[in-house]
Amino acid sequence: MVRDSASQALQLLDLLPQITISLCIKEIPGENTSADLRSYLVSKRPTSILITYNVSDTVEQILHQLGEKISKPLDHAQFQKDHVEGGYTSVSLKLLTHLEESPCDLFLKMGKEGEDLKYLKRVNKLDPFPPNMIKDFEERGLKDLFVEINNLELFMTCVSNNLVAELTKPDQNADQLIEAQSKAYDYIINFSEALNFDKNVVEVVDTFVETQISILKTQTSLAKLIQAVVSKKHSLSFQGLYLTCLMIHHICRQLKVFSEQRMTKFTFVALFCDLGLESKDLYLIKSNAELLPLAAVLPPADLDKLKNHARKNADFLAQYPELPIEVLSIIRQHHGNPEGVGFIDEHNPMINEDTLLFMTANTFIKYFLHPQYKFDKKEILRIIGERFPHERMKPYLEALAAKID
Ligand SMILES: [Fe+2]
Repeated sequence: MVRDSASQALQLLDLLPQITISLCIKEIPGENTSADLRSYLVSKRPTSILITYNVSDTVEQILHQLGEKISKPLDHAQFQKDHVEGGYTSVSLKLLTHLEESPCDLFLKMGKEGEDLKYLKRVNKLDPFPPNMIKDFEERGLKDLFVEINNLELFMTCVSNNLVAELTKPDQNADQLIEAQSKAYDYIINFSEALNFDKNVVEVVDTFVETQISILKTQTSLAKLIQAVVSKKHSLSFQGLYLTCLMIHHICRQLKVFSEQRMTKFTFVALFCDLGLESKDLYLIKSNAELLPLAAVLPPADLDKLKNHARKNADFLAQYPELPIEVLSIIRQHHGNPEGVGFIDEHNPMINEDTLLFMTANTFIKYFLHPQYKFDKKEILRIIGERFPHERMKPYLEALAAKID
């Protein structure tokens, strides 16, 4: 049964609850076809499947996508299957830095893969961590400890509660809040995919976004915030996300289009648009010209991530409950292609205004953080002015220039 718009398709889905697979072959101008379908299915039919594809895809490509989705259930079962060994599952040492004591016993894995593995208890439930324990482990090259699988949920809830408490602690200065956000960001990028946005991850993400908005509302010095964020102790991708939000905020203020709602939407986009590209080599790529020479040297998986991250991250984030409208379409289009593939400079009239605003800020920041440009704002503005000469980009470039001069 074919329908010509999202609203007609939703009427059909309401009438026929037995439909379990929907295909979206085209984004209809004037609506967010696939995003609207996704929001409906996520809230009303969480077990159904939506496939979006290009009209040029072959039948094999469509079937491949279908197979991928069917074999990837959206619940904890997949996580357990992928990560559980002998009744234990690993937890990153990074997570322990959020805790003063562990809510459950923690174990060291002994033995090599393929041999008989043993798990030795290293930390007792509710005992304070021995001083320097995490540092000692890291110096020995350990990245993970292990918990019994039945305790995973308790452990993750405890970590997320601690992160939320740290983010919402009253009377913190900007440095302390940014530090708390940086930790929360590590947790979000490490566990969003593994846990499929379970309630713990969602709580940390929502609190992260609220904290971001509250900092933007209360801190007035752009220079001070930039200084606090550009530091070696924060990861490059965290700096990129944060600075992109700062630039967007100032463009919106300059153009008098700021609202908390709009900023919330942009913060979600900045947080998830480059998920999976956290390594330095991948994160700063921002054009096909930079991507092409890498085709011969990058592992195929990394190359695929770079080419398809906009599309894949939009598809992945569709599982998130109650996203602000347009988040998915901006993520899909944030490198200039409505299909979310590659990096395209040529102007496409299908790209909406807030995506152009996001592209301006995000591209500027990727140059800004690149060692080659050494924070040279004027030179960067010149380069992106040449890359994006279209009239529709001008207000955003001018607003950016006015604020950072
Ligand atoms: Fe990106």
